[in-house]
Amino acid sequence: MTNPLVRHYGPRAYADHPPFSYPEYRSTVKRSPTQDPIPIVATLSESTGPGPVWSEMAEEDADLTTNAGTGEPAIGERIIVTGRVLDENGGGVPGTLLEIWQPNACGRYVHWREVDFPAPLDPNFIGVGQCRTDDSGTYRFTTIKPGPYPWGNHPNAWRPAHIHYSVLGPSLGTRLVTQMYFEGDPLLPLDPIYNSPPPHSRVRMVARYDHEVTIENWALGWRWDIVLRGEFATPADEDHQ
Ligand SMILES: [Fe+2]
Repeated sequence: MTNPLVRHYGPRAYADHPPFSYPEYRSTVKRSPTQDPIPIVATLSESTGPGPVWSEMAEEDADLTTNAGTGEPAIGERIIVTGRVLDENGGGVPGTLLEIWQPNACGRYVHWREVDFPAPLDPNFIGVGQCRTDDSGTYRFTTIKPGPYPWGNHPNAWRPAHIHYSVLGPSLGTRLVTQMYFEGDPLLPLDPIYNSPPPHSRVRMVARYDHEVTIENWALGWRWDIVLRGEFATPADEDHQ
């Protein structure tokens, strides 16, 4: 008997991930494959590189409140986001590049396609950052809590506050692109992207407030772990919206 999740989400996504085509998330319909995937045998090239160029990474890029380099801090609710990158056994994955991108506190990206959304830009916020996991697989960013923003998916559509993540290990074959959300956001039940993975795995994309991470008189703290494989894998974002 076919697993009901396989029937609803397709064989690739039977466990945790969204289907390639999810009509409520409109752009996936045209961008998803219509043919079955062709397995490709991984060779040494796929498993050995190319990986992150660490010489290009600056420590300062883990702090998005200052990495615009203007000398002035970004405007908005300062937050710390930290967690661990984990393998299928719960072990930390060190030496992994995390790149994030997000809108500013008003929900505005630094991007030419944003001209229709009348929210202000912040000259002291570029909305991109990166860091490397330490020996325990831990990452840590300081940033501004992103604002929700409208998008044209359906009438009165708004994205919940979210941060885009790219996780890159030692080769191109070790990459996960996903989004992180914030616990308690009232827009989550209305968002087709958040709702595209199976119900049981959606919550794995949600960061929780952690008072141990919060720094007195400075920033609120959020914790979010990323699981690369296995029973508790973090769902991927199929369309990189
Ligand atoms: Fe986004």
